[in-house]
Amino acid sequence: MLKICVIGLGYVGLPICLKLAKSFNTIGYDINSERIDTLNKGVDINDEFKKKDIKINNLIFSKKIEDINQCNFYIVCVPTPITHLKKPDLKYIDKSFNLLSKILKKGDIIVLESTVYPGVTEAFTKKLEKKTKLVNNYDFSTCYSPERINPGDKSRNLNNINKILAYEGEDRRIKKLIISVYKKISKKLIFSKDIKEAETAKGIENIQRDLNIALFNEILMICDKLKLNFNEVVRLASTKWNFINFSPGLVGGHCLPVDPYYLTYIAKKRGYRSKVTLSGREVNNYMKNYVINLVNLVIKTSRIKKNKVKICIVGLTYKYGVADTRNSQKIEILRYFKKRFKNTKGFDPFFKNADKLNYNELKKYDFFLFLSKGPKFKKIADSLDQKKMIDPFFYYSN
Ligand SMILES: NC(=O)c1ccc[n+]([C@@H]2O[C@H](COP(=O)([O-])OP(=O)(O)OC[C@H]3O[C@@H](n4cnc5c(N)ncnc54)[C@H](O)[C@@H]3O)[C@@H](O)[C@H]2O)c1
Repeated sequence: MLKICVIGLGYVGLPICLKLAKSFNTIGYDINSERIDTLNKGVDINDEFKKKDIKINNLIFSKKIEDINQCNFYIVCVPTPITHLKKPDLKYIDKSFNLLSKILKKGDIIVLESTVYPGVTEAFTKKLEKKTKLVNNYDFSTCYSPERINPGDKSRNLNNINKILAYEGEDRRIKKLIISVYKKISKKLIFSKDIKEAETAKGIENIQRDLNIALFNEILMICDKLKLNFNEVVRLASTKWNFINFSPGLVGGHCLPVDPYYLTYIAKKRGYRSKVTLSGREVNNYMKNYVINLVNLVIKTSRIKKNKVKICIVGLTYKYGVADTRNSQKIEILRYFKKRFKNTKGFDPFFKNADKLNYNELKKYDFFLFLSKGPKFKKIADSLDQKKMIDPFFYYSN
């Protein structure tokens, strides 16, 4: 009988765990005691799920190895950040495979979901073989299934996004079994027989998006220098059949600011120094400075005294509708202005540490700086005097 264990219960692991628990005997495992305690009380601190979604019969959350050593299907969803030198930091994967080496049994199946560079699954599988003396695709099986979940996105979710599943073994029974589990996660599976290709595919999806946004950020800054209306320039260009439109903005989160460094790292190791992949990173990282300079200029032109300026920054999490502040340039901008102007507030209903905004007191602020795009913020923008709005990415103004 299948007994599933999801290792790492964050933005990726928890939804998978909840989905599978409806069909299989499932255990959610995490090393973070607070995460386990809150989930056991039915609380998701990431604010993605309600109590009724979390309290599922038979579903157990645990941080104890004794609770998971009888499982036979392990799905690894741990973080893959970068170090301060912008190199892949695989310590979480290392730790989880170390754990697996202590409990791996004949017949077990492991699926890695974390975003990695090509060759990571193979490298950790080899280590596992060495430690356990069990043979991959014979005694046990390893697969790779990159995650495409888009937190905060109500229309694209686990139910309707396509999912890649890579398995290199020849055992049809195992393949059928893995597919039967993953069919419960995603209706549309795209099967691959090459794990490295699937690992690379995940990387380039995010690199492409990072570069596309970077291009629009650059066009925005060029239009600004040339005193041209960015929206109008894009509207005109969009009338060409093959022009693809993107929104400029502050790129953050756990994926786009990180994943390009994974592929370029392995490319460099194999003798190719990438020229395009990281160019978007530089532009996208610069955007917080662009915003800060723009705001400083607006404030300087307004002639309001520095110690009197009251500014409200709207949108702090890395994107609208999520609680995630990892790599959020908006938080950095807030910190900068809090230091510079003592009357700076940061508002975001999706971020629990944000300041409260009293809608009856909107008038008391000199400026509102809009950093995210979404209906709750549009409502504020619509109620404001245009002169008070600083909207660097033209989300609410032309
Ligand atoms: N967040 C996203 O939108 C998203 C989308 C697609 C892919 N990914 C990828 O999925 C992976 C996970 O990302 P996330 O956003 O869910 O991360 P997260 O930080 O939200 O969650 C990771 C969880 O893993 C736990 N953990 C860390 N080490 C562990 C270990 N050794 N054993 C058990 N648990 C451990 C942490 O405590 C945490 O709860 C990353 O590789 C990321 O790049 C994320």
